[in-house]
Amino acid sequence: MSDVINDDKIPNNVDLSSDKKLQRALVEWQPKYLAWWREMGPEGFQAHDVFLRTAISVDNAGWAHFDYVKMPDYRWGIFLADPIADRRIGFGDNFGKPVWTEVPGEHRNTLRRLIVTQGDTEPASVEQQRALGHSCPSLYDLRNLFQINVEEGRHLWAMAYLLHSHFGRDGREEAEALLDRRSGDADRPRILGAFNEPCTDWLSLFMFTFFTDRDGKFQLLALAESGFDPLARTTRFMLTEEAHHMFVGETGVGRIVRRTAELMKENDDVRRVGGIDLPTMQKYLNLWYSVSLDLFGSEISSNAASFFADGLKGRAREPSFEDHLALDGFYSLEVPGKGGTVTEEVPLRNAMNEVLRDAYVEDCQRGVDKWNEILKRAGIGDRLKLPSRHFHRRIGAYANAFCDPEGRVVSPADFERRRDEWLPSAADQAYVKSLMTKPVFAPNQMANWISPPAHGIKGYPVDFEYVRGCEG
Ligand SMILES: [Fe+2]
Ligand SMILES: [Fe+2]
Repeated sequence: MSDVINDDKIPNNVDLSSDKKLQRALVEWQPKYLAWWREMGPEGFQAHDVFLRTAISVDNAGWAHFDYVKMPDYRWGIFLADPIADRRIGFGDNFGKPVWTEVPGEHRNTLRRLIVTQGDTEPASVEQQRALGHSCPSLYDLRNLFQINVEEGRHLWAMAYLLHSHFGRDGREEAEALLDRRSGDADRPRILGAFNEPCTDWLSLFMFTFFTDRDGKFQLLALAESGFDPLARTTRFMLTEEAHHMFVGETGVGRIVRRTAELMKENDDVRRVGGIDLPTMQKYLNLWYSVSLDLFGSEISSNAASFFADGLKGRAREPSFEDHLALDGFYSLEVPGKGGTVTEEVPLRNAMNEVLRDAYVEDCQRGVDKWNEILKRAGIGDRLKLPSRHFHRRIGAYANAFCDPEGRVVSPADFERRRDEWLPSAADQAYVKSLMTKPVFAPNQMANWISPPAHGIKGYPVDFEYVRGCEG
């Protein structure tokens, strides 16, 4: 078990103090990070005491410490999962060879790009969510939002560490650029589409943490297989924290579903009693699912093929596959074609994005099933549903096609005409926002549109004061 060195400035388990040059570079990056956090982190809550979990080691039993902390004082640290002795590359043309502890020259640019792309999503989501504190449904939820935000900040640290420690000057420049781009900015946007979408209400936040953080989970699972061992070890530990983000999304939507089911019994028109009706929820689901599907990239991708061939990015849970070379297999892909869709046989390596997307879709379906179970138990006949993965895509084979949520190709005019039935309309968004004009700060209160959670945090009750200093 690697020890944690509580370096005065930067907690870490990578023996940072033994590498003075690297330590100096990171100590120099730290105030820039903090300046970014103060400018773009949660707006209006920097001086509050928040009951947060902080990673203090990678030990399964006791990796996290819970206490009140003001967010700018959060101990963002660098933690890599312990190395696995004699670890071998698990897939691709380098299958069976020892993993790399240094960046192989021929893969330097590609690895840097992979790390930057992952790293860019972390601060982006903090930026997207920065104003949400002012409309929180409860202190419990407010704390969960901030927990996610500080951990996305730590994930940025994880990627910045890799850039600083393995990519020399370009790495340092990329680490600075991670702090310069801004979600939704016209001139210097974040790299990936979903991370430039506004996330300004709590229904969007829960959909985001369910669907978009889950893309993160699968990207991390694929990178955790990487032959570049520091990347594999970093992402393995990030997955531990990521699980909580998806828990917030899954239970958040689930609690809205539960509350809506209750309100449906009071009134046929849920909006009249201040709830979020299921059709509106379905439209938000359609939006966040489709923009998150895009994050996996094109269905047919020579980049994905070379990431796999070179041993840089594998499949989620690569050991569960039998054939780690993927040289002879084909993937049957439905692409737009004459009169609808046609099936194309794609060499498996070129379909790796789609293979990862399959695993993602399956995981999303499990969550949707749980939400539907809540409806079923409440005696409600309506169900939520994942739309076709061809619906509302901007990347890949369907980027220029127009499909309805069932996946049927429709004309552009039809799509436009029916858009408001399928995606949140301006009126839907205004309605959802109208429910969230004020924060709920009293510890024993919950906004009307959402049910309380089943449990509080770390054994504390639901009405515990998870964020102090909100009232008065
Ligand atoms: Fe993250
Ligand atoms: Fe996350």
